[in-house]
Amino acid sequence: MVSKHASAVAATLAAFGLPLATAQDSSNTATVNLAATRGTSPGYAAGFIYGEPSSIFDQSPNQIPESFYTGMGFIYGRAGGGQDPTGGYITSLAGYESRFQGTLQNYQTSRQAGGKFQVLPHDLWGTDHATKDSYWPGDDGNWTIYDNFLDRALSDIVANDMTDGLDWDLWNEPDGGYFWLRSQAQYLAMWNRTYLRIREDSAFNNVLIVGPSSASQPSTSNSWWTTYIQYVVSNNVIPEQYTWHDEPGDPGTDIPNLNTLLAKYNAPSRQININEYATQSQQNSAGSAWFISRLERYNAYGLRGNWLSACQLYDFMAGIVGKTNTSDCTSAQYYPNGQYQVYEWYTKMMTGTRATTTGTGDGVMDVYTTIGNAGGTVQTLTGVLNQQGTWYITIDNLSAVGLPESGSLPIQTYGLVDDGPYGEVNAPTNRGIYSHQYSGNSVTFPVYQTSVDEYTAWVFEFNTTSSS
Ligand SMILES: *[C@@H]1O[C@H](CO)[C@@H](O)[C@H](O)[C@H]1NC(C)=O
Ligand SMILES: *[C@@H]1O[C@H](CO)[C@@H](O)[C@H](O)[C@H]1NC(C)=O
Ligand SMILES: *[C@@H]1O[C@H](CO)[C@@H](O)[C@H](O)[C@H]1NC(C)=O
Ligand SMILES: *[C@@H]1O[C@H](CO)[C@@H](O)[C@H](O)[C@H]1NC(C)=O
Ligand SMILES: *[C@@H]1O[C@H](CO)[C@@H](O)[C@H](O)[C@H]1NC(C)=O
Repeated sequence: MVSKHASAVAATLAAFGLPLATAQDSSNTATVNLAATRGTSPGYAAGFIYGEPSSIFDQSPNQIPESFYTGMGFIYGRAGGGQDPTGGYITSLAGYESRFQGTLQNYQTSRQAGGKFQVLPHDLWGTDHATKDSYWPGDDGNWTIYDNFLDRALSDIVANDMTDGLDWDLWNEPDGGYFWLRSQAQYLAMWNRTYLRIREDSAFNNVLIVGPSSASQPSTSNSWWTTYIQYVVSNNVIPEQYTWHDEPGDPGTDIPNLNTLLAKYNAPSRQININEYATQSQQNSAGSAWFISRLERYNAYGLRGNWLSACQLYDFMAGIVGKTNTSDCTSAQYYPNGQYQVYEWYTKMMTGTRATTTGTGDGVMDVYTTIGNAGGTVQTLTGVLNQQGTWYITIDNLSAVGLPESGSLPIQTYGLVDDGPYGEVNAPTNRGIYSHQYSGNSVTFPVYQTSVDEYTAWVFEFNTTSSS
């Protein structure tokens, strides 16, 4: 526990036991229905982009101990040698080869830790060195250079035994005005060409083609997305995962909007992967819990965005570990931060069956609940997104876990504090047990997001075997 939080413990403990102070309604109340379960989770939200060391910046690929990956439940990586100072394929073959080596190392690290991996061809190509005047795939209707690039990258993938657990993430943020500086029509021609090239080669039968990994979010009012969906449907080149970025964005809005969009254009459902989530200011313990709760609700994969540059892009697991000298990219003195504790709890403690939940009506707080694990407990991970105030949690259908329909329920609170991306946090803080009187098969209790705990995520835990 970090010292600046010590004095808050007593106050918070008392606060959690106070009678409900502000008016409670659906706008400030998250709900849990213990009678409607949703199976276990593979840990959908425990991915991140870049954040793994590589030889591009003279790091040892395995300098972050594997226990940090397995400890946070690592499920998905995504990289392609971006920001390599030698450039990419459009700069020189040497640039491409350096980026490919870095990508291969990140792939291997991800696989060793049990995760899948999305390769980023736009980075192998070298868009971070590209300007409007650079050569882009399909310029002047000439695809020769891009076809050669594809042939080279795909044959390197096969030669390096990289197809297991691999996704081809066709082009990053083609709508964002930074990674793609040509028309949407030229992008769609590239999409079609690449899709068919990969699908006609049986070496890639197990490689998913995913996209469009857009900067903007899908909806019927987003003309970039409506054009994209109509194109992939009419040409039968539909991605195997729909991907986009929520930086910012809200999975709770964007996923229903995607489903409306798909229905409108008769497009099939696919696995959703929000393969960059959370702005830099949302990357704190509470924000991480908020995103986990929303991604879990829809069985959507999520990868944390990465806001660092150069060698730091290839370090820190996208903001969940720190090190003693943060400017030393090759040192290996790592420690966990507050957000790491959230992912570790999510993956190690919440192994039970998921309950159905809703976030607060105002969208600010959300919850993720599992029933039963080694300890036989019900646990609710709770995140308030960058706000102070009071919210409530109502847990319904308590009898579904063997509790009486009324009585007194002791709830244990843990605070998963945040001390910044480089602040070491080694354990949850125990905020004590408070017993709540309840009736009607339902218990409601407040969550106080005070200034000292503004970025703290919470776990509320109770036993299923008895109530006092
Ligand atoms: C209790 O569970 C049943 C079955 O899922 C559901 O229909 C009912 O709405 C739940 N009660 C509450 C208050 O959520
Ligand atoms: C297409 O580009 C390649 C590579 O730059 C070049 O050799 C070829 O002549 C171009 N084809 C046409 C038709 O311009
Ligand atoms: C898609 O690519 C294939 C193969 O290159 C081509 O035959 C077809 O015309 C393309 N379709 C569109 C709409 O560009
Ligand atoms: C931290 O690392 C940087 C870069 O290697 C180095 O210049 C600096 O001296 C180091 N600081 C300490 C306190 O060791
Ligand atoms: C759950 O049960 C265990 C074992 O009896 C006990 O130590 C713990 O305090 C209980 N937790 C709560 C929240 O009542």
